[in-house]
Amino acid sequence: MIKEIVGPIPRDENFYDRVDLIEHMWGIAEEHDTFLIGPRRFGKSGILCKMYDEPREGFKVIFIDCEKFEDPYEFFTALLVEVLKNRNLSLKIKDCAHSIPLMPEKILSKVKDHISEIELLEIKIGLRESIEKHWKEESVQCIKELDKLVNKSNEKILFLLDEFPSLLKHMIDDGKYLETKLFLEWFRALRLDLNLTNTRFIIAGSRNIHTVYRNIPNQLLEKGEIEKDEIVYFSFNQVFNDFRNVLIEPFDAATAKEFIKELFSSSQITVEDDIINKILELIGSPVPYFIQLLISEIKRYHDGNLTPEIIESIYNERILGPTCRFYFEYYEDRLREYGPINEKGAKMIVAELSKAGSLTKNELYNIFLLSTQSDDSSKFDDLMNDLEMDFYIKFDSDNKYLFLSKILSDWWLRWHPSSTIR
Ligand SMILES: Nc1ncnc2c1ncn2[C@@H]1O[C@H](COP(=O)(O)OP(=O)(O)O)[C@@H](O)[C@H]1O
Ligand SMILES: [Mg+2]
Repeated sequence: MIKEIVGPIPRDENFYDRVDLIEHMWGIAEEHDTFLIGPRRFGKSGILCKMYDEPREGFKVIFIDCEKFEDPYEFFTALLVEVLKNRNLSLKIKDCAHSIPLMPEKILSKVKDHISEIELLEIKIGLRESIEKHWKEESVQCIKELDKLVNKSNEKILFLLDEFPSLLKHMIDDGKYLETKLFLEWFRALRLDLNLTNTRFIIAGSRNIHTVYRNIPNQLLEKGEIEKDEIVYFSFNQVFNDFRNVLIEPFDAATAKEFIKELFSSSQITVEDDIINKILELIGSPVPYFIQLLISEIKRYHDGNLTPEIIESIYNERILGPTCRFYFEYYEDRLREYGPINEKGAKMIVAELSKAGSLTKNELYNIFLLSTQSDDSSKFDDLMNDLEMDFYIKFDSDNKYLFLSKILSDWWLRWHPSSTIR
C-alpha cells in the first residue's frame, strides 16, 4: 500500500504510475540513448530506480548518482564498482580479467557473493588508483570490453546516470578544466569512435544538460585546454550525439485523482470528489511532490472530517507558511546559480510574475533593465531561457509568460511580495 513520502526517491510500492513513460524509455533504450529532462522533484530518480529494480529482459542495468562526484576518476570508479556489484556481470568479468587491465586480478579477487564494507573500500581505492593512472589508454577500452561481454550473451548494458549535468557543472565551476576535457573526450570517444552496439545511456538531471553545456567548449578554449579548431569536436552534438529527449511532465488529471485517492485510502480515509478537486485546484499543475506535500500536511493536522474549507486553510497556513518553507527553499537557492546579475533579475521577474499572473516579454525586459541596470539583451534572453528550462515559467499561447506551477507562484508571492518596481 502506498505511503506518502515527501522528498526521498519513491521506490517499490511507494512509486506511483509512470507506466507508459517507462515503457517508452525501454523502447528507446533498445536502439538509442536518452536525456530524461524534468525539474527537480518531478520523479526522475524514481523512474530510474524503477528501471533499475525491474529491468526489462535482456538488459543489465547500472545506476549511478553523479551529483556528488568531483572528477571523472571518481565517477568511473563508482561506475566500475556498480558493475562489479552486479553478480552476473562480475562473474563474466572474472572470466576475461586479462582483457580489462583497469580491473587487475588483485581487485577482482575481492569480488565475491558477499563483499564486506572494508573490502568494498579496498576495491574502490584500488580502482581509483588504477583509473587515474591509466585513464588515457584504458578508460575507453574498458567500456569496449564491457560492451563485448554483454554482446556475447546477447544482452545490453544500460547506464542510468542520474544528475549527470551536475557533475559537469561542478567540474567546470571548480576550475577543473583538464578533467572536464578528459571526461568529455572519453564520453565522445565511446559514442563516436567505438562501435558500441550493446551499450546505452540514460542521462537524467534537474539541471538542463543543454544549459549546463552551453558555455563549456568556450570556457575550455579560453583556458587553453583546447584549440580553436577543436570547438566543433567538443560541440554538444558531437559529445552527445544520438540522444533522444524525453520530457517528464506532471501527472495527468485522471492519474493525479487516483493518486490522491490512494494516498488517503492507505490511511483508511475515504475522500469525495470535492476534496480531490480542491487539492488539485490549490496546487495547480499536478506535480507528484506537491500532491504528496499537501496530503502529508493534511494527514498531520487533521484527522476528522475533511471539507474543502479545511483543505484551503491547511494550504494557506501550513503549506505556504513558515513550517513548510524548507520544502521550497531549493527553488530559491537555485536562482543563486544564475550569477549575481541574473540572480537579481530572475528574482524580480519571478516576483513580479507571481503578482501579476502573466506578463509580456517586453514588460519582463523592463523589469530586467530596472533590477539589473544592465541593458544586455542577450543576457536577458539567456535568463528567460534558463527560467523556462528550469521550469519556473512558461510561455503561453497569448504570447505572455506565466508561472508553470500555481503552488510555486503562491509561495513566491507569500515570501517575496515587496517590489519597488511596479
Ligand atoms: N511516481 C511517483 N510516485 C510517488 N511519488 C512521487 C513520484 N514521482 C515523484 N514523487 C514525489 O516527488 C519526490 C521526488 O521524487 P524523485 O524521483 O526523487 O524526483 P527527482 O529525481 O525528479 O527530483 C518524491 O519524494 C515524491 O514525493
Ligand atoms: Mg533525483
